[in-house]
Amino acid sequence: MRLDKFICKSTELTRNEAKKVLKSGEVRVNGEVAKNAAMQVHENNTITIDGQELTARGSRYYILHKVVDSICSNVDEVYPSVLHFIEVDKAFDLHIAGRLDADTTGLVLITDDGRWSHNVISPKKDCQKTYRVWLRDEIDDDKLEPLIQQFTDGLQLQGEDSLTRPAILRRVAQDELIEEDAYRSEVLLTITEGKYHQVKRMFAAVGNRVVGLHREQVGEITLGDLAPGEWRELTAAEIALFA
Ligand code: URA
Repeated sequence: MRLDKFICKSTELTRNEAKKVLKSGEVRVNGEVAKNAAMQVHENNTITIDGQELTARGSRYYILHKVVDSICSNVDEVYPSVLHFIEVDKAFDLHIAGRLDADTTGLVLITDDGRWSHNVISPKKDCQKTYRVWLRDEIDDDKLEPLIQQFTDGLQLQGEDSLTRPAILRRVAQDELIEEDAYRSEVLLTITEGKYHQVKRMFAAVGNRVVGLHREQVGEITLGDLAPGEWRELTAAEIALFA
């Protein structure tokens, strides 16, 4: 990893403060003064500041139950970043392993381990993400099986070169919900990729419209009893799933 990142991970210093310390010439890598923030360092290097050896803190892994009107970004925009919910030191040094839209709720994984998040996100790793989806239009009984097949075979999304990867669609309920809510069917959709607005675009591609979206599961990880807005550290077993 970069030297400035290593310094941040092993001290209380921010990235800017780490750069200042580097400029001052107080940092040594294997005994040699190091001033280049971008220098690549490894676990077996001896890195000191003012003679004090640094030990990198282990990586951090969290799960958050995202609420609407928060965004999966490291900077605030119209809505605040989900990282404000994670009440730990240097929360903005973390990143989000698979983004949700501002109006989507549910399971978000947050870490500072780039390799781990790659294993969660990369379609090649086949990690299943399951969404509960509320749809504007009902799915007629006679249309259900062909629709499930379309999702299995792959859909052509606007602007994409390839079909979506095989997805699993299950209908949970419909019609009886019309009175209370502005949706006519509720489904579960499991996908292994995360193209931009993927779920919304998949249902648009079959002429329906997503009116509510909630991520329930990523791999074997579920929200359990985490209430909206709550977060916790992942357990060792959960971390190991994507190590
Ligand atoms: N697909 C979407 O369309 N939105 C999300 O937030 C997640 C998946």
